[in-house]
Amino acid sequence: MKNYLIAPSILSADFARLGEDTAKAIAAGGDVVHFDVMDNHYVPNLTMGPMVLKALRDYGITAPIDVHLMVKPVDALIPEFAKAGASFITFHPEASEHVDRTVQLIKEHGCKAGLVFNPATPLTYLDYMLDKVDIVLLMSVNPGFGGQSFIPSTLNKLREVRKRIDQSGYDVRLEVDGGVKVDNIAEIAAAGADMFVAGSAIFNQPDYRTVIAEMRREVEK
Ligand code: DX5
Ligand code: ZN
Repeated sequence: MKNYLIAPSILSADFARLGEDTAKAIAAGGDVVHFDVMDNHYVPNLTMGPMVLKALRDYGITAPIDVHLMVKPVDALIPEFAKAGASFITFHPEASEHVDRTVQLIKEHGCKAGLVFNPATPLTYLDYMLDKVDIVLLMSVNPGFGGQSFIPSTLNKLREVRKRIDQSGYDVRLEVDGGVKVDNIAEIAAAGADMFVAGSAIFNQPDYRTVIAEMRREVEK
């Protein structure tokens, strides 16, 4: 895999043409499809389930699909998403009673596993879990909606997690989600992120290719 990944969040795609719009974002240079699952319980919004993910696979989407579970409880959905074709599954540790078990469950089902930290969630779980996860995802907005502004304190949190990953020597991705745009992605990358979720910044523009190319240029500079 590349040393950084751009993950268009299809939460901001055209739901009436989801297959087509997702394919367009990947053809335009997106590396990974970010798939937001919201349950109107853990977060105040309701989106898509495993059937929709399977429909994207059946439509012909072959790119990795990064399932971001904003649900509580977590475990029952894991086999369903794995069966539907998920590649990565991340969840919010405070939504699971047994975080280590949930990570094991994701791996047993053949997917890469990650923990997601809300802007005010401390990183303590990493003391015990950094050696067991493939991804750490820092939320740079409060989860539930696309189109919000990046919370600047995330930059320090990113630096902290980057340091911990580098010191550990483990192969762990550092993903960031919320308010990522062309004009802030360079400083987010400099703070240590290597996987960038972007929803409204890509899908609200007519030309996805240009936005993604600009994002890459910013990350590489
Ligand atoms: C928010 C979701 C995000 C959302 C990001 O809870 O997890 O993935 O789609 O949208 P933007 O990039 O518009 O902030
Ligand atoms: Zn997300």
